[in-house]
Amino acid sequence: MKITVFGTGYVGLVTGACLADVGHNVVCVDIDQAKIDKLKQGLIPIFEPGIEDVVKRCVSEGTLNFTTSAAEGVAHGTVQFIAVGTPPDEDGAADLQYVVAVAKTIGQHMTDYKVVVDKSTVPVGTAEKVQAAIAGELANRGEAIDFDVCSNPEFLKEGSALEDFTKGARIIVGTDSERVQEVMQECYAPYMRNHNKLMFMDVRAAEFTKYAANAMLATKISFMNEMSQMAERLSVDIEHVREGIGSDPRIGYHFIYPGCGYGGSCFPKDVKALARTAQDIGYNPELLLAVENVNERQKSVLFDKVNKAFDGDLKGKTIAVWGLSFKPNTDDMREAPSRNLMESLWAAGAKVRAYDPEAMEETHRIYGDRDDLAFCEHRNEAVAGADALVICTEWKAFRTLDFDWLKQQLKFSVVVDGRNLYNPEDAKAAGFLYYAVGRGDSLAPIK
Ligand code: UDX
Repeated sequence: MKITVFGTGYVGLVTGACLADVGHNVVCVDIDQAKIDKLKQGLIPIFEPGIEDVVKRCVSEGTLNFTTSAAEGVAHGTVQFIAVGTPPDEDGAADLQYVVAVAKTIGQHMTDYKVVVDKSTVPVGTAEKVQAAIAGELANRGEAIDFDVCSNPEFLKEGSALEDFTKGARIIVGTDSERVQEVMQECYAPYMRNHNKLMFMDVRAAEFTKYAANAMLATKISFMNEMSQMAERLSVDIEHVREGIGSDPRIGYHFIYPGCGYGGSCFPKDVKALARTAQDIGYNPELLLAVENVNERQKSVLFDKVNKAFDGDLKGKTIAVWGLSFKPNTDDMREAPSRNLMESLWAAGAKVRAYDPEAMEETHRIYGDRDDLAFCEHRNEAVAGADALVICTEWKAFRTLDFDWLKQQLKFSVVVDGRNLYNPEDAKAAGFLYYAVGRGDSLAPIK
């Protein structure tokens, strides 16, 4: 099947690569010439485990092609995926200008029937806008060519996007057209050899499902973070509570890990956009606003704890930071809690020795060279001579820690663990002040 994907960002590239990998003939279109040139050589602009191999293989087999020519892209696919960005505008709503621009391009160039698929996360009603944009261009051309617009939201997690695309729990398609259903069946048939994962619903329900799913997951996290705050004040270990409630299948173990706040490109943006939508339709989204507020507050816990450990005096201190990306297996720093931590440390006059397995380059791109930020090549280098250690991201490599060894490295025996990776007893046995999230009251200053 011939497929075109507009946008070679995270979602577009994963979509294009995965569909080419199962034998579809895919063309990916982007306006960024430099990016397209690199992709043609198999150079991938994002960090995502497994994608490089798939892109290289599909490019060499000829099932995946890249172009900056919109006309070529529109001519190619019966299915036209729109997977361009929807960044938040000033008041948190999703900015649809790139989506609408692609829709217009499709309307300007199409000569035969197309199924236009909204893959980007877009508010309810966007498919109607895409429909109108294409129809408007066709009217300008005086053409009456048949087309359909459907919604097919993605549920990709960074770090396991290929797996999520190929083995996801469901594939949601919002459409009321039987013809679209048949085309999308054919498109996704390679992923449904075991059972049918396609769920058809109307367009607006599909658009809303994506936001509701992310908001639900963000709510679980904020709920647990709020419980962790209470647990700390009640001398309760939230990890026991997590296991206690997770064992109830109605609650489940997923997405109830307390931490230093959710980040990334989706949850913060989507919760805000959904709240904005609610306000636009005259509904006060109290729960969504609380989810967001709790998350903002949670992002300051790392700083608050390290600040408390040093009794509010961080001036001249050097803090080692392990893990900078918003979660493991990505170099994505968008809305990462490490940023709140580092910026607060700098504001308090402290220096940072940072290490991340993948996000060093991205961190350098964001903050540049500065005297109060050392880019370390290894986790050991980060802690050498530092005053304390803070862990922001639960990379696998950080899961084991020899506290006796760490004691030799740090000036003060202080660890702030934003992901509850270690056994507090091990830390205490080695003489550490160990400040985790919601694990009883261990918040005594070191003096
Ligand atoms: C998310 C959704 O999971 C995905 O379905 C959607 O398509 C895009 O948004 P992603 O942003 O890649 O994916 O990351 P995810 O693994 O969901 O984690 C989001 C954030 O929540 C991270 O900052 C993570 O650290 C945090 N988190 C997650 C917790 O703090 N606790 C948890 O229990 C789970």
